[in-house]
Amino acid sequence: MGIYLDNAATSWPKPEAVYLAVDHFMREVGATPGRGGHWREAEAARIADEARMALAQLFNAPDPAGVAFTMNATQAINMALKGLLQPGDHVITSSIEHNAMWRPLKALERRGVALTAVPCAPDGTLDPADVEAAIRPNTRLIALLHASNVLGTILPIGEIGRIAHDHGIPFLVDAAQTAGAYPLDMESMHIDLLAFPGHKGLYGPHGTGGLVVRSGVQLETWVEGGSGTESAPETMPEALPLRLEAGTQNAAGIAGLLAGVRFVLEQGVERIREHELALTAILIDALRDVPGLAMLGPADLSRRTAVVSMVVDGYVPDQLAFVLDQVFDVATRAGLHCAPQAHRVAGTLATGALRFSPGFFNTADEMRVAAEAVRSIADG
Ligand SMILES: Cc1ncc(COP(=O)(O)O)c(C=O)c1O
Repeated sequence: MGIYLDNAATSWPKPEAVYLAVDHFMREVGATPGRGGHWREAEAARIADEARMALAQLFNAPDPAGVAFTMNATQAINMALKGLLQPGDHVITSSIEHNAMWRPLKALERRGVALTAVPCAPDGTLDPADVEAAIRPNTRLIALLHASNVLGTILPIGEIGRIAHDHGIPFLVDAAQTAGAYPLDMESMHIDLLAFPGHKGLYGPHGTGGLVVRSGVQLETWVEGGSGTESAPETMPEALPLRLEAGTQNAAGIAGLLAGVRFVLEQGVERIREHELALTAILIDALRDVPGLAMLGPADLSRRTAVVSMVVDGYVPDQLAFVLDQVFDVATRAGLHCAPQAHRVAGTLATGALRFSPGFFNTADEMRVAAEAVRSIADG
């Protein structure tokens, strides 16, 4: 069946309950929350509300009504940035952002928003004092990823949240690499806006994700349309989540996401983190003395997620990924990983890198087999 090590892109396989929930929803429920005067609609709405509650519990979010569903983390980030920032505002971010953050910020810069990307060290680490030093009187937002999808580096979100809070600046966190895989607490980390994908560490299907909005944070809408209820006005409803959920949502996906979040809550994020970190340690150890191999990201394991990127002298990362896939049936991802900024910081912009990203369903043996495959390619 092969070894799947591309969980940082999309987790696979999913817990059995996720497959069952999607199948059940599509066969037995079928309707859309807010659209219909029948029990099927009520059941679909109940499932979506339970998903909001489970997510609010997982993130210690102030209010489940603040959980607005999107197709992915990218939409959630766009929704936050474009809902908050106006020409003349200043926004602070980091130098290792994914394009999901970087491209909308650059688009906003072209429309008159001032942008500061605080430099990270080559291993991705970021000093919170540098973020504080970048604050200006017109800083309207601090917007950061929680962990790099290239370097694995975990940023000190709690400390930066404290700084943002002390200065009265809203704080947006892109939790694409940490939701479900690393403890997140919107209250103690002072997070005002949390963007998450449903299809990675929460084990939901493709086309799921969301933005958690702290009440009191006013967002302009970036998509307008049907809201199911409150249909008479010409503007979107004020109340969350309706304000941010124009059009028919991915109700079957949300049913699967609910099952995925319940799985995470049952296992416990700490336990998931422990397992993934153990796999990461085994992989790093097994790869350490492969000739010509250099690993990216922090040496200190506690500062990284389950992402191990590398370059091997004399090999193009895409070729390595191709051989690993075709000969050894090991699924990895090579190239720039939609994050050229992180590669620029690491010094791998020209070549890209090869990335292994284990997940909760991988085993220690699989790490050894994957590392052995790299070694046998590098040994020629
Ligand atoms: C750090 C980071 N941010 C954002 C995204 C975008 O997530 P999505 O594909 O759900 O839009 C990713 C996806 O890999 C990511 O790693």
